[in-house]
Amino acid sequence: MKVLMLNGSWNQDGSTKAGLDEMAKVFAAEGVETEIVTIGGKPIADCIACGKCAELKHCVFENDGVNDFAAKAKDADGFVFGSPVYYAHPSGRIQSFLDRLFFSTMNADRYASLRHKPCASIVVARRAGTSASFDVLNKYATISQMIVVGSSYWNEFHALTKDDVPQDPEGLQTLRNLARNMVYVMKCQKAGRDSGILPPANESGVFTNFVR
Ligand SMILES: Cc1cc2nc3c(=O)[nH]c(=O)nc-3n(C[C@H](O)[C@H](O)[C@H](O)COP(=O)(O)O)c2cc1C
Repeated sequence: MKVLMLNGSWNQDGSTKAGLDEMAKVFAAEGVETEIVTIGGKPIADCIACGKCAELKHCVFENDGVNDFAAKAKDADGFVFGSPVYYAHPSGRIQSFLDRLFFSTMNADRYASLRHKPCASIVVARRAGTSASFDVLNKYATISQMIVVGSSYWNEFHALTKDDVPQDPEGLQTLRNLARNMVYVMKCQKAGRDSGILPPANESGVFTNFVR
């Protein structure tokens, strides 16, 4: 089993990474492989709604990590999206990244590489804006039929820099419990698959814009 994690900070070794590392330790102890992908500090294009992904089966903007992440997603059993809070929302770069990842995946394969897989978002802030940011990240999972996994608190922890992270033991405990819950869901899914329980097929054919 493998969990693909996304660090939505420019900082590849900051607070967000420290939170992802705390979860990765639990995954390792449970025998689950992890990979942390860092968006990094280079510019990330926003989605320009060109619709080319329907034809290309990937985003038209290459070389900034979105298409690589989409390729890795096919083999992942679970996902964690981590972001710092900026002005009470997730980082702009993770929102641009996820807009393009989810829109291109929808157009490429109707979310087949993400659908029904467990997903959790984690957010870190010095002080405020965590629950609003958490809601934004969870919206990607809930429109694509991913299974949102919860923990013993909303998935937030508090730090200005990574050195502060150990001073939020409840936040870290929330992250560890979240990782254990994800492992439980992935194991249940595997046991279900092994005994012939498969995800339901979707109904389709209705797509309205509220005006016709
Ligand atoms: C532009 C900017 C906006 C921020 N906005 C908030 C905020 O709204 N609330 C908050 O508590 N912290 C805010 N912070 C602090 C970061 O969330 C905090 O430093 C976090 O630990 C950074 O994570 P990182 O090291 O993974 O980038 C902001 C930081 C920056 C640079």
